[in-house]
Amino acid sequence: MVKIHFDEINSTNTYLKENYLILMDFTLVSALHQTSGKGRLGRIWVDDKKSALFSILVKDDIDIQSVCLMPLICATSLHKVLNKYLKKILIKWPNDLLFDSKKIAGILVESVIIENEVKALILGFGVNINNSSFASELEGIATSLYLETKFEHFIANITEEIANQFENDYHQFKTDSLNFVDYCNKYSFLKNQHITFEKDGIKSDGIALDMLSDGSLSVKTNIGTLSLQSGEITLSLKQN
Ligand code: BTN
Repeated sequence: MVKIHFDEINSTNTYLKENYLILMDFTLVSALHQTSGKGRLGRIWVDDKKSALFSILVKDDIDIQSVCLMPLICATSLHKVLNKYLKKILIKWPNDLLFDSKKIAGILVESVIIENEVKALILGFGVNINNSSFASELEGIATSLYLETKFEHFIANITEEIANQFENDYHQFKTDSLNFVDYCNKYSFLKNQHITFEKDGIKSDGIALDMLSDGSLSVKTNIGTLSLQSGEITLSLKQN
């Protein structure tokens, strides 16, 4: 795996998106700090140089249907590695890892698709490692390995472990994609939880069931069982 590190960059995802043509398959780009870190749904990802911030480029021949499974593969690799440091981390479909209901890591999958062909996948990981506090709006909804274990960790080591795990998992995915869906369902945060979700501006609620083999989330509602695609969904636990 080719590795590139920046002390500061706009966004490791943006870097790979702009340079995918000249970079090798499985290039890893990491940064100490991002000036325009991106989250899902156009959100910004702010860091204080205490998180693992990295992206992996995949240029392997990949079919378009598999793109929606990529967050689950990334979540599996992240979970396997973080679980060595902290037990009871759960996977919240489609792109978060939570400890004690607080976000410890997020995944941003971007793709370059030209004429229905996947030219590149950019898999971005943001993992809260040594953060000792968060901005007031994240207070109570974000946590870090440091806050939960009381130990500081080497960001570069954890980055490398996750990247290696991802490379193995990706190759395994090519032969058995269902394995990952099963893994994510085993550690699913949402399973059997009452959730509210917003799709195309319409708010609904239901009970989250399993993640499915196409990467969607099955939800039981009062009009039947739906499957949610990750793209445009905002979702939260229903408050009683
Ligand atoms: C989310 O939780 O919404 C996804 C967050 C993904 C953040 C990572 S940090 C490294 C990579 N570069 C980015 O700009 N974003 C991802």
